[in-house]
Amino acid sequence: MTAGIDKLNFFVPPYYLEMTELANARNVDPAKYTIGIGQDQMAISPITQDIITLAANAAQPILTDEDRQTIDLVILGTESSVDESKAAAVVLHRLLGIQPFARGIELKEACYSATAGLQFAKEYVLAHPERKALVIASDIARYGLHSGGEPTQGAGAVAMLVTSQPRILALSDESVPYTQDIYDFWRPTGEPYPVVNGPLSNQTYIQAFETVWQEYQQRYQKTLADFAALAFHIPYTKMGKKALLAGLAQESEAEQNRILAQYEESIRYSRRVGNLYTGSLYLGLISLLENSQTLKAGDKLGLFSYGSGAVAEFFTGRLVPGYQEHLLTDAHEALLANRQALSVAAYEEVFQTPLTNENLTASTDTTAFRLTAVNDHIRYYQE
Ligand code: CAA
Repeated sequence: MTAGIDKLNFFVPPYYLEMTELANARNVDPAKYTIGIGQDQMAISPITQDIITLAANAAQPILTDEDRQTIDLVILGTESSVDESKAAAVVLHRLLGIQPFARGIELKEACYSATAGLQFAKEYVLAHPERKALVIASDIARYGLHSGGEPTQGAGAVAMLVTSQPRILALSDESVPYTQDIYDFWRPTGEPYPVVNGPLSNQTYIQAFETVWQEYQQRYQKTLADFAALAFHIPYTKMGKKALLAGLAQESEAEQNRILAQYEESIRYSRRVGNLYTGSLYLGLISLLENSQTLKAGDKLGLFSYGSGAVAEFFTGRLVPGYQEHLLTDAHEALLANRQALSVAAYEEVFQTPLTNENLTASTDTTAFRLTAVNDHIRYYQE
């Protein structure tokens, strides 16, 4: 029996900033951002978009009434939680109209948690093949104005419907998770921005990939030749490439180039969005599936998930016959193309706008789901 991703969609906020403009404003050579870091644009989230609205905007378009009646699990992975106790998935469950006899939970482990959600969802639908699970990765990546991490910010959500008859990617049982207690990036409770050791985070990401890739090959007796492509967590697009080149250093140049060519397809959307934290691996997967001209049904994909702190996982799946018909390529291109460009001054203003009801009311955001008021710490949404 199989289980995997049946439907797949992403949503990003309606504003973005050109990285060359940010570089100019910060007196940095634009090539550092566009080549050194590998980012062209960065998604900017207004106060009307939180992880719940981003998630709802990603999930709503892919759900039918039948899905809503059949989903038993709503799992939201995030590291930009809006409450220390109540799971964002509970609000999301209501906004999406999911049947009441379901579980709604939030998972946390930096950028990794949605992968745990996907694995839990897979096990659930294998045990209950008539039922479905909704897994959403939703985050707003903020490091602060003028911070070292500023060019690696971003925002957005990816929604995945997991079923026992997946029409896009059948997940296999092959997986290598890996946990190590490292302070490379973390956000103490109540702090608006993470504490980051940038060089250590880069180093740990690469070391984690090398470790799980080696272990995977030994454990399952597989080689790079078994894979049509690898998808990576993409905090910024240069990161996955650095890990790929380090981890595949023993491979022939032809093999490295074959995988690198697919990697380029997997980063097309991330170059225009930035870091989605938990959603980044899955935005990369969508970009790969929608942009690669050489992938085909039956191809095996490897996915590398990484969350600082740190938990990583290498897992695999196979493309299902007809998967191309279930991609939302045109809608995604339109979503990215129809965003509004902000100047650096406007970005800084949006970034610093306090979350007050006056500011929410004054917002010009017309997105389907948006935050309209916060009274006594209760969030109210346009639905
Ligand atoms: N032209 C072209 N390239 C240039 C350049 C120029 N003029 N100037 C610099 N560069 C290159 C550098 O050579 C470097 O490339 P390499 O790493 O390939 O050598 C690259 O641009 C970045 O330069 P620096 O390392 O000097 O940049 P920095 O000190 O400003 O830090 C950063 C970059 C560490 C990514 C920082 O933005 C940061 O801390 N970001 C947040 C943390 C992060 O994203 N870590 C990733 C791994 S952790 C993870 O994946 C989880 C997560 O999502 C957070």
